[in-house]
Amino acid sequence: MLRRLHHDQPASFAFTPANLAWAKGQITKYPEGRQASAIIPLLWRAQEQEGWLTRPAIEHVADMLGMAYIRALEVATFYFMFQLQPVGSVAHIQICGTTSCLICGADELIKVCKDKIAPKPHMLSADGKFSWEEVECLGACTNAPMAQIGKDYYEDLTAQSLEQILVDLDNGRNPVPGPHNGRYAAEPLSGLTSLTEFESGKTKYNGSVQRAVDIGDGVKRIDGTEVPLLTPWLGKAKAEKPAKAAKAETPAPKAAKPVAKAAPVAAPAAAPAAKAKKPRALKAPRKGGADDLKLIKGVGPKLEALLHSLGFFHFDQVAAWTDAELAWVDDNLEGFKGRASREGWVAQAKALAAKG
Ligand code: FES
Repeated sequence: MLRRLHHDQPASFAFTPANLAWAKGQITKYPEGRQASAIIPLLWRAQEQEGWLTRPAIEHVADMLGMAYIRALEVATFYFMFQLQPVGSVAHIQICGTTSCLICGADELIKVCKDKIAPKPHMLSADGKFSWEEVECLGACTNAPMAQIGKDYYEDLTAQSLEQILVDLDNGRNPVPGPHNGRYAAEPLSGLTSLTEFESGKTKYNGSVQRAVDIGDGVKRIDGTEVPLLTPWLGKAKAEKPAKAAKAETPAPKAAKPVAKAAPVAAPAAAPAAKAKKPRALKAPRKGGADDLKLIKGVGPKLEALLHSLGFFHFDQVAAWTDAELAWVDDNLEGFKGRASREGWVAQAKALAAKG
């Protein structure tokens, strides 16, 4: 399937303050220089906020992570979970069309979508409230046929139950997810044959459904205020460290030995820093203008701006860095330390400079 950006794009994108705080927290999960690894959670959050992934959102995330736009676009266009066109303002219906679901009647569900929403997948309904698509196995095969709507799975569906779900959503109700044929979870249709004691004391719905019903935000857009920030290591780690360190000091001095042994290992790592030397820099680009440093793999708009601020505008400047100078640059790439040597910028710049 050809996946392209939608022809009609909004002018800009910004995370809500709460989502921005969440996104910054996610970036801290990754080691220095590996921030690009946060691209999928950040793109996903942007999509959860807007309903679909716009070009400004993709570029905004790329800027946050110091990535070239093309790298972020590669991710966004590769994964089908990213919606590259507007989806229904109320809900986007994802019908599983893989073997188990198809055998059990997924084609009937797709017919409902065609009749009630739009004749083709990824088209908006006439009122803009709904859209649909067929997706690959969603891993709920024992409850086939099924659909994902918003954050929840609707299982053991029939054409009639799907129609009713659409009516409920259209009227602002939150239809109960989970099995729609009377099953509690994924037990045999004829009832439990083992672990039958489980029957007593169970909640009204199975765990996933109960939680979804309790929260009741299945198709709600996420602005970041509805869930706690899941970055407990921020701040907490700092607070805990002194206490742990104090405890560790009291016991045996024996514990100090491994630290002493570790010292020689750390020593060679410190050596390059001592050698680091700032390369010659320019106050401004030469007459012909700056080279497009983004052609160097690993340099995005943010890093290019940083390189400019350090006085580097041309491929031949980068190509001429000695090991000591490369070490200095690595050390001064705030937020991206070590990337210049890791991505082989000098060799790349040499090739680019040679090409003119
Ligand atoms: S085949 Fe539909 S969920 Fe697996």
